Formats: sequence, structure tokens, C-alpha cells
Amino acid sequence: MSIDLRDEQEERALLVQAIVGARTRQDAAYSLEELRNLSDTAGARVVGSVTQRMRAPTPNFFIGPGKLDEIKLASDHTRANLVIFDNELTPAQVNNLDLSLGIKVIDRTELILQIFARRARSAEAQLQVELAQLQYLVSRIPVSARQHRFHGGIGMRGPGESPFQLRNEPMRRRITAAKRKLEVIQERRLRTRKHRAAPTVSLVGYTNAGKSTLLNALAAAGTYVDDRLFATLDTKTSPHRLPDGRSVLVTDTVGFIRDLPHGLVASFRSTLEEVRESALLAIVADASHPNVREQLDVVVSTLTGIGADGVPSILVLNKSDRCEADALAALAREMGARYPRPMAVSAMHRQGIDALRERIAECLPPEPVRPTAQGWREW
Ligand code: GTP
Repeated sequence: MSIDLRDEQEERALLVQAIVGARTRQDAAYSLEELRNLSDTAGARVVGSVTQRMRAPTPNFFIGPGKLDEIKLASDHTRANLVIFDNELTPAQVNNLDLSLGIKVIDRTELILQIFARRARSAEAQLQVELAQLQYLVSRIPVSARQHRFHGGIGMRGPGESPFQLRNEPMRRRITAAKRKLEVIQERRLRTRKHRAAPTVSLVGYTNAGKSTLLNALAAAGTYVDDRLFATLDTKTSPHRLPDGRSVLVTDTVGFIRDLPHGLVASFRSTLEEVRESALLAIVADASHPNVREQLDVVVSTLTGIGADGVPSILVLNKSDRCEADALAALAREMGARYPRPMAVSAMHRQGIDALRERIAECLPPEPVRPTAQGWREW
């Protein structure tokens, strides 16, 4: 039996970004920085980046022939063994780039799928990611051409996944099986949810906004906190007593990100359904992030996409310890039009937490009377 050592090799990534059409330089720079963070989260060492402004992508390689040569030179020079595109590539483009550059090429969607695959902990999250990966493969792969790519590193690394299995098992059968297993887990969760004796406050927000830290601050729940993207894939729920004596369940959900792959949103539907059924949303924003407004736009559109835009919400401006007072006040004023009285907090330094708890109590709809299997019960 031979041992594949490629998995242990350092992954040296060259980032490539084509700035297409009227996209602003600032937006492109932000996107590239986010791709760098994503690559870092996936465990790759970013060794350089190449950008190109262009009117429209080319069908064969996305980028132009001159840029392709430049990427070749840059990858030789930096000893890159992985190229990560910020743009979404077609399967044919990935294949052509693979063959032409002689190293593995992936795009942003595939990178996010890899990160989710690594981070999934519970059986449910693992199944959800597996399903998204399988659906992604089925939709994109000309299998024979791309088999060689699935060897270790930031190649396919789904839970329990191996290139061998991917090639040899009929994928559609595996998709059906994964869906069935998920249904069983989710039905069980739905039953538990229906019997919950308290309303739910869901913490939602862009990845890395500080939701887990805030959950800790609110409920001393001891959740996993990590300065990497998508530390939380599983919903964490902890009970909490509000200042007015009412009990609530506070949940922390998977972080949102720009262009979250569709398959992932679909697979995490049931996790996200919890958000839709919450009594209140606390939209957590990293107020110290230069792109906090764009991140909030992504959160709002993701909430709309999952039908949760009608749920009452509070805006929580987190990481206030890292903000200039004037900038924070200006942001709060600006956001106030959409979210009355945004709450500035520092989850890390436990500042503003009591005021936030008061505000949650204020905004929580009055206690309804709910039927249960045993008859009627009051919250
Ligand atoms: P995902 O799981 O990716 O969605 O992340 P999250 O939103 O749950 O963020 P998390 O709580 O893991 O925090 C991300 C990083 O921000 C961690 O390094 C935290 O220590 C840091 N952080 C969170 N809140 C604050 C804060 O109030 N101030 C500062 N300075 N850092 C914070």
C-alpha cells in the first residue's frame, strides 16, 4: 500500500481576480482581501495575487492569454501549487486552466465548500455539506477530465469523502441517501423545536461579526470562538433569562457571506428555517469593519432569500471597542433609518450587554399562548 504524502504538503495559493465590467476598484480590493481570509481559513498559505481588469471574460480561460502567461510566471516564481480564482468559473474553464497551468485551480465557491467541509461537526452539518458538495460535483464535473484534481489538500475534502469513493459510487444514489438521512435528523429537530417552551432570539450576521462571542457574553454558553471564517456551522442554542424575568432561547447560526454557494443555502435550509421561525433577530455587525455596510446588505438579502425578512429585528453594532466614537455614532445614525436604535456593544469586553438584554426584552413580541402536545401551555 502506498501512502499519499500530498495531503501533508504545504498548500501555496496564488490568488487570481478578474475585475469585470464596471466593478469598482474598492469593491474588488475588498473581495480579494476576503478571498485571502477564506484561503487562510482553508489552511492555504497565500503567496501572491494577480489581477486583471477586463470588459468581459473569455469562454476558455476566463482571463486573457497574456494574463495566463503572467499567472504561469507568477506561480513558478512563488512556487504556488494552487490557484484560487475570485470569479466563478465554468467546469470547462477550470479544466482548461488546470491543464494549461499544470496545477490545481479552484474558484471561490469551491473554496467555501471546502471550508464548510472542514468545519462541519455535527452529523447534520456534515450531511448538509456532503449534500452540497455532491450536488456541486454533479452539476459541474466532466468527471474523466477532472479526476486527477481530487487528491488531498484543498481538493475535495468532504466529511468521509475520498476521491476513490467519489469516482466509484453513483453520486445520485448518494445524494438521495444523504437527503433521506437529513430528513430523519431534521424531523427530529422540528419536533424538539415545536416543544420549545420559550421564544427564540437568533443571532445572525456576516461571518466573523462576533455572533459566538456575543452568545457567550449573553448566555455564558462556552461556544467555540475562533478568528477564522465560519467557526460555527451548527446552530448553538442556550437558554437565557431576560431582565424582565422572561426566558428566551438564544441561538447562534452559520455566518453569511457574499455569494454563499446556492447548494449550501439549500442544504442548510432547515438550519436557516430556525431563523425564519424566531421571535426576534439580533443582526450582529462588525462595526469596525471597513465594509460593514456591504456586509449588512449581504445579510439583509440572505434573510430575504430565506423568507426571514419579516421577523422583527434589532441591529447590534459589535466590536465597538475597535471603533472611533464619531465613526460609530455616524454608523448608528445612518443605520437608524432602517433599524431604530441600533445597539453598540463589545461582545468581547462585555460592554453594552445589559442594555442589549433590556432591548431584547422590549422588542420581543408579547408572550403568546401556545398549543403543545399536552394541550395549552403558557410561556
Ligand atoms: P462565524 O462562525 O464565522 O460566523 O463567526 P462569528 O460571527 O460567530 O464570530 P466569532 O464570535 O467567532 O468572532 C470572530 C472574531 O471576532 C474572534 O476573534 C473574536 O474574538 C472577535 N470578536 C468578537 N467580538 C468582538 C468584540 O466585541 N471586539 C473585538 N475587538 N473583537 C471581537
